[in-house]
This record gives sequence, structure tokens and C-alpha cells, in this order.
Amino acid sequence: MPSLPCASVPAWAPRPPLNCSSIDAKHTGVFSVKTAITEMFGIEHPIIQGGMHYVGFAELAAAVSNAGGLGVITGLTQKTPELLAKEIARCRGMSDKPFGVNLTFLPTFNAPPYQEYIAAIREGGVKIVETAGRSPEQYMPALKAGGIKVIHKCTSVRHALRAEQIGCDAVSVDGFECGGHPGEDDMPNMILLPRAAEELSIPFVASGGMADGRSLVAALSLGAAGINMGTRFIATKEAPVHENVKKSLVAATELDTRLVMRTLRNTERVLTNKAVERLIEIEREKGNSLKIDDIIEEVAGVYPKVMIDGDLDAGAWSCGMVVGLIKDVPTVKELIDRTMVEAEGIIRQRLVGFLDGLPEKRHKHAVA
Ligand SMILES: Cc1cc2nc3c(=O)[nH]c(=O)nc-3n(C[C@H](O)[C@H](O)[C@H](O)COP(=O)(O)O)c2cc1C
Repeated sequence: MPSLPCASVPAWAPRPPLNCSSIDAKHTGVFSVKTAITEMFGIEHPIIQGGMHYVGFAELAAAVSNAGGLGVITGLTQKTPELLAKEIARCRGMSDKPFGVNLTFLPTFNAPPYQEYIAAIREGGVKIVETAGRSPEQYMPALKAGGIKVIHKCTSVRHALRAEQIGCDAVSVDGFECGGHPGEDDMPNMILLPRAAEELSIPFVASGGMADGRSLVAALSLGAAGINMGTRFIATKEAPVHENVKKSLVAATELDTRLVMRTLRNTERVLTNKAVERLIEIEREKGNSLKIDDIIEEVAGVYPKVMIDGDLDAGAWSCGMVVGLIKDVPTVKELIDRTMVEAEGIIRQRLVGFLDGLPEKRHKHAVA
């Protein structure tokens, strides 16, 4: 392996904060980490873009896959299986790399026609599906018959073990920090990931709070075979969402998310805004008698208004605590490359430096 510029810098030497411009083109892509996840999905870097409603369109999925990660189209953002088939074809037109489709199994009486969505995925030749929400058990035969690798996203060790038992190939373990639905156990990743490592035989990725090389090295240290990022990928040039959304993520801090719908046992971590404050006030008033109808205005049909129209106060929309680490809007490739460069720097300089007994000089980080 050729020696890399950052590998030759002594561990104690102060270095400028890594940013997009510090990545030299020759350097990019040289450092790659082989893990069970990169091997399973045939990708260069162990970085997955989680499915996101009204964000995970072909543009973003293709950009992530072209940059060596695994891009994921959000299945149910496409209102019909036919539209999903078109979105898959559109993504294929933009990337010849592997990409996946997210299928979120919702707790609803009027379930979407999941078997037809799966048929569209199979016919589109997609070989990776990220499932989330309810257990994918009843759909496993159809997915497996299509030769599809299934990575199930879950928020507890018991659900991860269940996913393993029903034949999922991998799991994405979502800690309490995550944007979207963190479950009801409130288990942060510092505990959840090593617990998952103790129990699981299948590989898993760390999800929730992941933003950069620091997250990647930490996740690998805790037993994960890669990372899944949601919120961080929204603040990228290619994310096909309104500029207001990206600006709001750069402006927000780690203190700006709230948990809503706890009493409905459908807890969601969202970015605070006027509608969320109103929602929390209604929740306070209604207590345990809260019904979904009481907050329907704040939660129904919100995503197109926010993501397409840029109406940030339209309702509650998912966002992770990791928003506190988002300071810029790079291209997806810049984000992935610098994550890998930073991970290498941490491993080769900081960690090996500790082993070599080199004194550490802290410097302010400005990455993510
Ligand atoms: C705006 C937004 C929409 C999301 N929509 C979905 C979704 O439709 N299905 C799903 O499985 N996960 C969804 N997620 C969760 C992400 O896939 C991912 O698990 C989560 O964002 C990871 O946490 P992070 O935001 O801290 O990276 C969403 C997250 C965000 C921020």
C-alpha cells in the first residue's frame, strides 16, 4: 500500500482541521476498510445511507453508491410499486454500483402493497433491502427468493436477535441518538453496540449519531462492521431537498431535537420547530389519553412540505442529535472521502501513537 501523506505526519504534530479541500485526489479512495459489510454488499467503504422519507430519492442513493458507500432509495416515498420501479431504473441510470431499497413496515391498518413493492425491487434487479419498522418476517421468503440480502434496522438487541433468527443477513443497530424512530428503550449506542456485538452472529452497522471518521472508528471499535448515516447525508449537495432544510441542519445544535409521540409508543426524534412545540404542548395537555388524531395536523403529510417546499415549520420531521456535528454542506463524495481519511488519521496517528507512547497534543476538530 503506498504511503499516505497523513500517515507520515507524527502523531503529536498539530495539523489543520480536515475539510473537503484537504483531501487530495490521489489520496482519495486509497484507504479502504474491508469489513463483513463491505464484502456482503460489494461496496468500497463501510458507509450506508439509511432510507429517509422524501430524501432517499435516486439522486442521493446514486451519489452515495458512486462514492463507494451504499445508497438506499426509500421505497414508500414512491406512492406506488410502479413509481418505485421507475425510481430504481432512474438510479440505475445514474450508477452502476450496488444500491438498496428501504422498505419500512408501518403499524397501519391500510398497509401498502408490500408484496408488490418487493416484486418491483426484484424485477428492478436490486439485491439489497433495508427493512425497518415492524419485523420483516412475513416478507422474508419473497425477499430471499429474489436473492436479496436483507439488513434490518432495529433499536434493541432482542429485535436484532429476532432478525438474525428469521434469516436477515445483517442488522443496522439504531441507538437512542438517532433521527427517526429510536424505539422505546432509550439505549444509546455506547451500550447498545457492544451489547449487539456480544449477542449477534451476523454483522451489524452502527446507526444513529454517525457523522465522520471519528464515528466510524468508534463504531468499528465497539464491534460494528460499518456505519449507517441518516441526518448527515441530508446536508449534502446531492440530497434532493430544499436548501432551507440543509441550512437548518447546519444552524442547529445537538440540543435542538425533541422526542415526540412517546405516549403512542411510536417515539420519533425530530428537529424542534413551532409545530413541534405545539405538538408537545398538546401531548402535555392530553397525557396518556393522547390519540393520533389530536396531533394529526403536526404529523400527517409533513415531509413533502418540508423537503420539497422548504416549509420547515410544516410539522414534525425526523432529525438526529448528530445535527450538532453538522457544520457544512459537502458533496457526498467529499463527505465519504474525508470520513475515510479522518478514520485513517485517527487509527494510524492517534491510536497507534498511544501504543508508541507518544505524547498527545489535542487540537480542535472541525470535521463533519
Ligand atoms: C428525515 C429523515 C427521514 C427518515 N425516514 C426514514 C424512513 O422512511 N424509513 C426508515 O427506515 N428510516 C428513516 N429514517 C431513519 C434513518 O434511516 C436512519 O436510521 C437514522 O437517520 C440514523 O440516525 P442519524 O440521523 O443520527 O444518522 C429517517 C431519518 C431522517 C433524518
